[in-house]
Amino acid sequence: MVHLITSNTAIKFLRFNTSRLKAFSTAMMEKPEVLMTRCDIAPNVLEELKSRCKLTLWNKESAASRTFLLENIPGKSGIFCFLTDKIDKELLDTAGPNLKVVSTFSVGYDHIDVKECQQRNIKIGYTPDVLTEATAELTLGLLLCTSRRLIEAHEEARTGGWTTWSPSWMTGPGLGESTVGIVGFGRIGQSVALKVKAFNAKNILYFNRSEKQNEAKITGAVKVSFEELLKQSDFIICCCALTKETQNMFNIESFAKMKRTAVFINTSRGGLVDQNALVDALENGTIRAAGLDVTVPEPLPLDHRLFKMSNCTILPHIGSATIEARTAMAKLTLDNLMNALEDKPMPAQLKL
Ligand code: GLV
Repeated sequence: MVHLITSNTAIKFLRFNTSRLKAFSTAMMEKPEVLMTRCDIAPNVLEELKSRCKLTLWNKESAASRTFLLENIPGKSGIFCFLTDKIDKELLDTAGPNLKVVSTFSVGYDHIDVKECQQRNIKIGYTPDVLTEATAELTLGLLLCTSRRLIEAHEEARTGGWTTWSPSWMTGPGLGESTVGIVGFGRIGQSVALKVKAFNAKNILYFNRSEKQNEAKITGAVKVSFEELLKQSDFIICCCALTKETQNMFNIESFAKMKRTAVFINTSRGGLVDQNALVDALENGTIRAAGLDVTVPEPLPLDHRLFKMSNCTILPHIGSATIEARTAMAKLTLDNLMNALEDKPMPAQLKL
């Protein structure tokens, strides 16, 4: 009797588990194969990805190595990547014909060879809008840090340089009544303009490929040539995408056209600036100061000349680093990826 019950139970158990195993393996077979190049994103998004895809994951909190990318991309249908990954011809060739989508956790896409993707019909997803406020906020923070010398002042207070209150010590130019020039008047540039207006800037100028008349109305920003913007602005804020056309647009000639009192801020991409020219401009007093959230390379080597200058504030590429923005970016990158894999419209597809 005991024997009979045991064998019946065993059969039921086996049947049950075989069918579960079948269901599991069918589900696994149907799941798209995806390569993901970092693991330190919002945990719920990572869990969702793991449940919906067969995920090959770089399981360290650092940028994925090139070897990892090249070894693991073959046969994948999608890649969930970051601005630290180079998605170039070699990688796309290695991926093979299954690759349908590159979904990047960034609004910038200069790390992706867009043309090569287009030629292969590979869709690109990115993360506009959800990081606009975070990046514009950081831009203002960096500007004030640089012009009002906040880090220098903190260091003086901390190390005994603060001996008494002094009328001219640690002074810098104010934003009120100033002329602010914004290079690149897209979503982030426009949000920066609004914030600068709240600080009572007298004039807001912008330089952009296309006219942004409607968008400029709310802040009264005026479109001018690049040269005019450089000449007139007290603060020059770089908010444009890195392309072949914009690479090194801030070079010896551009710095020479700026006011000697100008403060230069860059929160978009380091490649927009000829960094040696910037070092010279800061050293020679061609301009007053610079604030950089982006450099070439990243991270900037510790012995770099820019780190030795008291008139240069450097941040480690944290423009979009609010908890809210990074969570929204993770979700949008996931949605872009999954929708493309399921042949549904992507919430934010890069269309150039
Ligand atoms: C940050 O730099 C981004 O492109 O999202």
